[in-house]
Amino acid sequence: MERKANIDLDRLPKHIAIIMDGNGRWAKQQNQPRVFGHKNGVRAVREVSEAAAELGVNYLTLYAFSTENWNRPALEVSALMGLLVETIRKEVSTLMENNIRLNAIGDLSKLPKRTYAALREGMKITSDNDRMTLTLALNYSSRWEITRAAQLIATEVQQGKLTPEDITDQSFSRYLATSDMPDPELLIRTSGELRISNYLLWQIAYSELYFTDKFWPDFRKPDLYDAILDYQNRERRFGKISEQLA
Ligand code: IPE
Ligand code: IPE
Ligand code: MG
Repeated sequence: MERKANIDLDRLPKHIAIIMDGNGRWAKQQNQPRVFGHKNGVRAVREVSEAAAELGVNYLTLYAFSTENWNRPALEVSALMGLLVETIRKEVSTLMENNIRLNAIGDLSKLPKRTYAALREGMKITSDNDRMTLTLALNYSSRWEITRAAQLIATEVQQGKLTPEDITDQSFSRYLATSDMPDPELLIRTSGELRISNYLLWQIAYSELYFTDKFWPDFRKPDLYDAILDYQNRERRFGKISEQLA
């Protein structure tokens, strides 16, 4: 309770992004198959979503499946896609109770039909919720997203709707899958890996990065509070010097 009480609600990140990592190693530690880890990661998703919404975070974006994850063993991929269907269906009631809107970014058209359908259904049911937007990055990678933005822009230039001079930092952001969200102030990665793995490369230009050794299935509300407290103790200078910030 104490950790939560120490959070300054006026300086909360509006958008938190998380790379949920370590499910496989968590399972291996207890001699279980990797899928056991994925199943146990669902509770962490529920807890963190609830905690973020309760605090007043507006956007929570979770990396659930990267474009590179298709290269995993076929059985693991199909188990993950099935687990997504099951989880979305089961958790819709939690989302409704917490007034959370479900959203997704990524190349969704390439998802298995059943997964895509469950996702669409979940998004439809929760579409009027407005306390927090929970975005799942699914079949997502940042290079896919940025390449697609470049294609969309090139097409508009070709059609004469846009001139090269119209392309700015701000206007480019509008062609990304996150066009309706602010950039994340805080990016969390679990499991001790110190890399970004093709996640939100453009959007995290000035995000604070937080790494924890905890495996994702062990991540709980207090762990989110710790990350936010750490974030609140940092000085975000955006290129300026300390003295200019006062
Ligand atoms: C993260 O856990 C979940 C997904 C990438 C889908 P991992 O499955 O990557 O777990 P580790 O990193 O192998 O332990
Ligand atoms: C990143 O985790 C993708 C997700 C969390 C969905 P990975 O476990 O796939 O990342 P790498 O391959 O270890 O960098
Ligand atoms: Mg991993």
